[in-house]
Amino acid sequence: MSNEHSTISSLLRSATAQLEETNPDSPRLDSELLLAHVLGCSRLDLFLKADQPLNGDEQSTFKELVRQRSTGNPIAYLTGEKGFWSLNLEVSKATLIPRPDTETLVEAAVDHIRKWQNKHPGNTCLIAELGTGTAAIPLALCSELNNLHIISVDCSTEILEVAARNVRRHEHLLKNRNNKLELAENDLFSGIDFPSKLDFIVSNPPYIPTEKIAELQTDVSEFEPHIALDGGLDGLFFYRYLLDQAPGFLKKDGEMLLEIGYDQQTDLTSLQSEFPEWESSCFLPDLQGNARVWIINKESA
Ligand SMILES: C[S@@+](CC[C@H](N)C(=O)[O-])C[C@H]1O[C@@H](n2cnc3c(N)ncnc32)[C@H](O)[C@@H]1O
Repeated sequence: MSNEHSTISSLLRSATAQLEETNPDSPRLDSELLLAHVLGCSRLDLFLKADQPLNGDEQSTFKELVRQRSTGNPIAYLTGEKGFWSLNLEVSKATLIPRPDTETLVEAAVDHIRKWQNKHPGNTCLIAELGTGTAAIPLALCSELNNLHIISVDCSTEILEVAARNVRRHEHLLKNRNNKLELAENDLFSGIDFPSKLDFIVSNPPYIPTEKIAELQTDVSEFEPHIALDGGLDGLFFYRYLLDQAPGFLKKDGEMLLEIGYDQQTDLTSLQSEFPEWESSCFLPDLQGNARVWIINKESA
C-alpha cells in the first residue's frame, strides 16, 4: 500500500465509510476513538498529524478494531476504557460499561450526602453499594466528597479485579480526602457484617426483565454481561430484595438511592406499597426527562 493510503486521514476516511453501514450513529467518532487508542494519542493529535503514515502493525491493529466495531462490539470494550463523571475507568468484557444515566444517580447521591454531612459535621458517612461493577459510583462520590466510608459489593471475582484496579488508579481520591472504599465479593448483602448501621445505600442494580434482554441493541444484548443486566422475570428482583432487606441495614433516618429503568416508576411505586417500613419516596428525572433515580426514606421526608 502506498503512503497516501496509509495516512491518518485516509485510514479515518475508509474506516468511517466502513462503519457507516453497520454503525450509522457515529462512524467518524468511533473511527477516531479507535485510531487514537491504537496510536496512544488524543483525537486532537489525529488532526494535527493527519498526513502521518501508520506502520504495518498499527494499520492491521486498527483495521481489526474497526472490524470488531462493525460487529457491534462497543468502543469501550475495544479500548478498555470509559469516561464516567470526571474519571477515566478501566472496563472489561466482564463489566457493564458505565452509562451517562448513572451520573444522574451520582448527582443525587452527592447532593443528599452533602446535606447529611451539613447535619453531621465531621462525621464519617457510612454507605453500602450493591453491584459496583467498575466501581464507577463510589469513585465518583469520592471525587466530590470527603469523610466517606463506602463498602461496595459485587458477586463476581473478575469484575472486582477491574474495580480494584480502578480504585488503585484513583487512589488519590481516598487518602487525600479521608475516604475509605472497600470492595467485597458477596451475593447481595447477605451475611455482610457492616461496621454499624448505614447512612445510605446506593445502587444501580440489574433491572432489565430477563426476556427483554434479547430485544436490546446488539451492542448491549450480545456484548454486555447479562449478570449486570438481568433483573429477573419482571426486572424488579433487586428492588424487591432491597425494599425487604435494607430497612434492617439502614439507620432510622437512612436513605436509599437507586437507579431505575426509564419505564419502571409505576411498577416500583406499587411495589413499595408492599413494604410499609418505607415512609416516603420520590423520583428524579434523567436528562431525557425519564424517572431515573428513586430515593426512598425510612422516615417521612
Ligand atoms: C447494572 S450493573 C452496575 C455496575 C456499576 N455500578 C455501574 O453503575 O456502572 C449491576 C452490577 O450488579 C452486579 N450483581 C449482579 N447480581 C449480583 C448479586 N447477586 N450480588 C451482588 N452483585 C450483583 C453485577 O455483577 C454488576 O456489576
